[in-house]
Amino acid sequence: MRAYRFDSFDSLEELRLREEADPAPQRGEVLVRVHAVSLNFRDIAMLRGRYPRKCVPGLIPVSDAAGEIVALGEGVQAFKVGDRVLGAFHPRWFGGEMPSTIASDSYGAESDGWLCEFKAISQEAVVRLPEGLSYEEACTLPCAGLTAWTALTGPAPIRAGHTVLVQGSGGVSIFALQLARATGATVIATTSSAAKADQLRALGAAEVVNYADDPEWGKAVRALSGGRGVDRVVEVGGPGTIAQSLRAVALGGEIASIGFLSTENPGIDFFQLKMSGASFRNITVGDRAGLLELTRVVAATGLKPVIDRVFAFGEAHDAFSHLERGGHMGKVVIRVS
Ligand SMILES: NC(=O)c1ccc[n+]([C@@H]2O[C@H](COP(=O)([O-])OP(=O)(O)OC[C@H]3O[C@@H](n4cnc5c(N)ncnc54)[C@H](OP(=O)(O)O)[C@@H]3O)[C@@H](O)[C@H]2O)c1
Repeated sequence: MRAYRFDSFDSLEELRLREEADPAPQRGEVLVRVHAVSLNFRDIAMLRGRYPRKCVPGLIPVSDAAGEIVALGEGVQAFKVGDRVLGAFHPRWFGGEMPSTIASDSYGAESDGWLCEFKAISQEAVVRLPEGLSYEEACTLPCAGLTAWTALTGPAPIRAGHTVLVQGSGGVSIFALQLARATGATVIATTSSAAKADQLRALGAAEVVNYADDPEWGKAVRALSGGRGVDRVVEVGGPGTIAQSLRAVALGGEIASIGFLSTENPGIDFFQLKMSGASFRNITVGDRAGLLELTRVVAATGLKPVIDRVFAFGEAHDAFSHLERGGHMGKVVIRVS
């Protein structure tokens, strides 16, 4: 098979395509012919030294994939040849407490990911595709889709009557917008681009604030929510956006802390955090149970993931560069076969 590996994380040129032996499924494993993978900010963060976990060179990158089962290892009963599946972001987090293997299982960082033609993997680490989605659409769900779903659910699930703030127009934020709208919640979005503001409105955002034009955008968001603040912030900006998120959130609301897109890190004011009256929840994508729930929600609502662009397998470098430029809206996909 053909597989990409990062020989080092020094530059994108270190991403090299190789010919390797086809993997064979062991007991309890399925062999997946990978049809499509999607990129996430983490794939770029690893390359730029901005990923907050260990990154081991030499591995196959990319965490998110969809494909077709082409062979079964001994003892596999959950699937048959021909089933269409997607990989779980955390292959051994089935529910409940996060397992201690979470870091060592991390695709592309400490274990081989999915930017390859075939992958042998435990039957427990894949789930069926939702009805009605293509491989290109479905491969966007494991990280961005599930992260957005986890952010909107959890101990205080978002529902009609709530207001959700999403930041920017990347993969997680667009899924959060779509899923929040599917529950009947109101969405306020931020972006740095006037053109993207129109697209965010077309996807159902009631209000859009340009965070590049207005550094005090948290105040503007609070005003747009009738002065009360938003019930949930889907926080993808991180250190550079948290202060404005604290201004935007309602008393008793929640900041779902997800990302670290911003490069500045001015620190958090303890009293601003305390007086916000909001809770702060760290999100680590989500477990297999959440992924199954998401596939059912997608099938039931007819949600179509927003794909910015699909690249061919031979254009992987272009796909990474495209994501890094940040001009995309939603997801960047690579068609593998
Ligand atoms: N903890 C977890 O479980 C988890 C899971 C998934 C992702 N993440 C993290 O969440 C973040 C988002 O990931 P992603 O894959 O959705 O990213 P992405 O698709 O690369 O998002 C890029 C977009 O984010 C917006 N953006 C960039 N800098 C921003 C800033 N300072 N403030 C607000 N928006 C900004 C821009 O939108 P505009 O062009 O509209 O301005 C940009 O187009 C990343 O840090 C990622 O590592 C964490």
